[in-house]
Amino acid sequence: MEKILIVDDEAFIRENLERILAEDGYRPLSTDSEEEAARLVSEEEIDLVLLDLNLGARSGLDVLRSLREIDPDLLVIIITGYGTVESAVEALKLGAYDYIKKPFKADAIHLIVRLALETQSLRRKVRQLRREGKDLPQGADMVGSSPQLLQVYRQIREVAKHETATVLITGESGTGKELVARAIHNLSPRRERPFIEINCGSLPFNLLETELFGHERGAFTDAKNRKIGLLEESNGGSIFLDEIGEMDLTLQVKLLRVLEDRRIRRLGGTRNIDIDVRVIAATNRNLREAIEERQFREDLFYRLNVFPIHVPPLRERREDIPHLLQYFLRRFSREFNKRIREISREALELLMRYRWPGNVRELRNVVERICIMYNSETLRPEHLPGEMFGTAPRREAPFSFDLPPEGVVLEALVEQIERDLITKAIAVTGGNVAKTARLLSIPRGTLRYKLEKYDIEGAF
Ligand SMILES: Nc1ncnc2c1ncn2[C@@H]1O[C@H](COP(=O)(O)OP(=O)(O)OP(=O)(O)O)[C@@H](O)[C@H]1O
Ligand SMILES: [Mg+2]
Repeated sequence: MEKILIVDDEAFIRENLERILAEDGYRPLSTDSEEEAARLVSEEEIDLVLLDLNLGARSGLDVLRSLREIDPDLLVIIITGYGTVESAVEALKLGAYDYIKKPFKADAIHLIVRLALETQSLRRKVRQLRREGKDLPQGADMVGSSPQLLQVYRQIREVAKHETATVLITGESGTGKELVARAIHNLSPRRERPFIEINCGSLPFNLLETELFGHERGAFTDAKNRKIGLLEESNGGSIFLDEIGEMDLTLQVKLLRVLEDRRIRRLGGTRNIDIDVRVIAATNRNLREAIEERQFREDLFYRLNVFPIHVPPLRERREDIPHLLQYFLRRFSREFNKRIREISREALELLMRYRWPGNVRELRNVVERICIMYNSETLRPEHLPGEMFGTAPRREAPFSFDLPPEGVVLEALVEQIERDLITKAIAVTGGNVAKTARLLSIPRGTLRYKLEKYDIEGAF
């Protein structure tokens, strides 16, 4: 049932509209206050807003602006009275969907609302498709569309085409290196051939060696039968060498030889076997440092680093967080038969602000745990684990700005951010200068200077 919010200061109009909307089976909510409207827009999933331009003291245009700041995709229909058509045009420029004049007929409302909702659902569908398919063809189910991740997708597609190119994937733990490796394989001409994965950090040297190279019967005391190694088994396909940074130096030499000659010899064997395998290696270590410390061979590094792909940590691409949350929420809600669907604004803010040292894996685990433990329709701060409530003030912007091709006026932009945050801080502290300064981590004198500079009132 679509939720439609009516914001109007005349009770008569509100009731009238509520009745008309209820007739069509929508769920109307209504209020005459801007604060309440803002709360509803951030906490409820509102599909459409009917907004009166004459809202007592506050201009409806300001209200429109602030509601769309909360939800940039919010669809708003303006209701205008006599003499405010000009403002209605202004409202369209600010992104209102359409306007309707008072007095209105029920039929006109039925029609305009139906059209608006159709538009909304189409827009959402398009956004969803874009998000899910964002330039990454089937075969790779990665979520996120930050510029950093789009760059990774581009690299995946590019290297997938070159069947035998060696790839080195770097990135912190939990960033999705394994997904990238699988995506490369699945998008490559080798997709029908094996993808074999081995963790080089989990086996002692000699076991890893026989796993990779195999052995002939009798190669050593325990070798009762011939064993085919993973390099041979993945012939024609790809082998994923995870945690390559942990590989023993002796084995590194052998791997280097494989990469150079494209041949292997089973342990205890006398024959060289040609292999045709794509090597995809991954590590969360800084290999250059490992080279400095003589734990990793420089020649092997250059062999592997033919096509490097770096997966950035989640805190450097925070705009992926909401998508990932939705994705895992949907997935685990279904899996555990829960109905958690929405994330409250407060909870989202905390989740966006958190550092995510364990990256996507940590986020996935947090959502999974919530879906196991709770079953409310909306995810709220009280459902979040303690570490999400960091007390340190935030230093980084939650989003990075796009640099538009026409450029920016840097100082004006920075001033606007300053003015905006100062105004908000004053609202939060009720105008107390000392508290405001503390909230912004600046000396009181600096705050006073800025209040004057920006001509901001309401602080004492
Ligand atoms: N972009 C993404 N979209 C969806 N799921 C993701 C994404 N990135 C990571 N994941 C999920 O996060 C978890 C960790 O990813 P993955 O195992 O690929 O990380 P990793 O970089 O290999 O970590 P480690 O270095 O610890 O092995 C997995 O469950 C994976 O499915
Ligand atoms: Mg991994």
